Amino acid sequence: MKTKAAILYGLNEPWKVEEVDLGDPVAGEVRVKLAASGLCHSDEHLVTGDIPAGMPVIGGHEGAGVVEAVGAGVTSVKEGDHVVLGFIPSCGRCRMCSTGRQNLCDLGAQLMGGVSIADGTHRFHNTAGQGLGTMCLLGTFSPYTVVHESSVIKIEDDIPLDKAALVGCGVTTGWGSAVYAAEVAPGDTIVVVGVGGIGANAIQGARLAGAKRIVAVDPVEFKREKAQEFGATHTAASLEEAFTLVNDITWGQLADKAIITTGVATGDLIAPTMGLVSKGGRVVVTAVSSFFQTDVKMSLFELTLFQKELRGSLFGSANPRADIPKLLGLYRDGLLKLDELVTKTYTLEEVNQGYADMRDGKNIRGMIVY
Ligand SMILES: NC(=O)c1ccc[n+]([C@@H]2O[C@H](COP(=O)([O-])OP(=O)(O)OC[C@H]3O[C@@H](n4cnc5c(N)ncnc54)[C@H](O)[C@@H]3O)[C@@H](O)[C@H]2O)c1
Ligand SMILES: [Zn+2]
Ligand SMILES: [Zn+2]
Repeated sequence: MKTKAAILYGLNEPWKVEEVDLGDPVAGEVRVKLAASGLCHSDEHLVTGDIPAGMPVIGGHEGAGVVEAVGAGVTSVKEGDHVVLGFIPSCGRCRMCSTGRQNLCDLGAQLMGGVSIADGTHRFHNTAGQGLGTMCLLGTFSPYTVVHESSVIKIEDDIPLDKAALVGCGVTTGWGSAVYAAEVAPGDTIVVVGVGGIGANAIQGARLAGAKRIVAVDPVEFKREKAQEFGATHTAASLEEAFTLVNDITWGQLADKAIITTGVATGDLIAPTMGLVSKGGRVVVTAVSSFFQTDVKMSLFELTLFQKELRGSLFGSANPRADIPKLLGLYRDGLLKLDELVTKTYTLEEVNQGYADMRDGKNIRGMIVY
């Protein structure tokens, strides 16, 4: 079928919205008519080259929609089902999936390969006949996509699809960073560094897990205001300011855990964030760095003698097949805010404006609505 998509042809170039050809689902695949796609910072990492990807590539990895057609052998969804697309496939059978770590599914090895898991070919082509890769095997910067069954999670019909889309990456990643990776416990003092789509949900996760104090750090005033809407009890404009604040409100004990959700992870963030947590404290790094970033400065002495922990987290260390429906249930019951995350909506043609607004600190989550 003919549709359109936002394509990245080269580093630091704008997204180009063009007509594309989308092939039918082969065995094991599903065609989804998307309702919306979130504008996550990870697609910006493709543009800057932080995340190396084969090009040309269709962006977008935070979407939800309705199943239009299924290929042979697909059993978990059928035509008409409402689905969220998980940004990491989960097969349910590999060593990681079968030990409760679906976010680390072995199929993730093919995440940035751009070609279909099912048969190793492209499903999208441009008008010149060139094969187009898809971000995270999804390519939600298109009103229609064909994805592998392992990327598709069936949800209940009553959840608005444009809100459900957010749970395909940002909400689950942020919430899980607090609940699973940081293991926030009742009464904890938590610091969240960076209040975008991921950080806002780390704040929500910390709140739901019973944190007593949640300190949101962001240089942008609008972000600090929004952070309080999601559950932050205190805010700071910098890590230095946060240290004085955290030291003060904890009578010198410092925070239990801190979560780094800045737009880009850099080595110089680690030492000051490790300095915000107490003896036995933990820092979770959810933000993505450049692939080439290998320098980190931190006190190894404190790591050992204050028994601190530094932990990475992918997709909120969550199990998408269990956690995506669970989070949508929390939304239905009014315990998780999704509507408030979407600060501005865009058409597909406005995708570059959406990313300009993200860089300018104007959005918690910008969203393309189809
Ligand atoms: N690990 C995963 O599975 C996973 C999944 C999705 C996204 N991510 C990553 O998470 C990060 C955040 O994504 P997002 O979509 O929320 O980004 P975003 O751009 O919407 O938000 C980032 C926020 O960080 C703030 N910030 C920047 N530098 C800061 C600093 N030094 N101190 C405090 N705040 C600072 C910005 O003002 C902004 O509000 C990105 O690196 C993204 O690639 C990781
Ligand atoms: Zn994302
Ligand atoms: Zn698996």
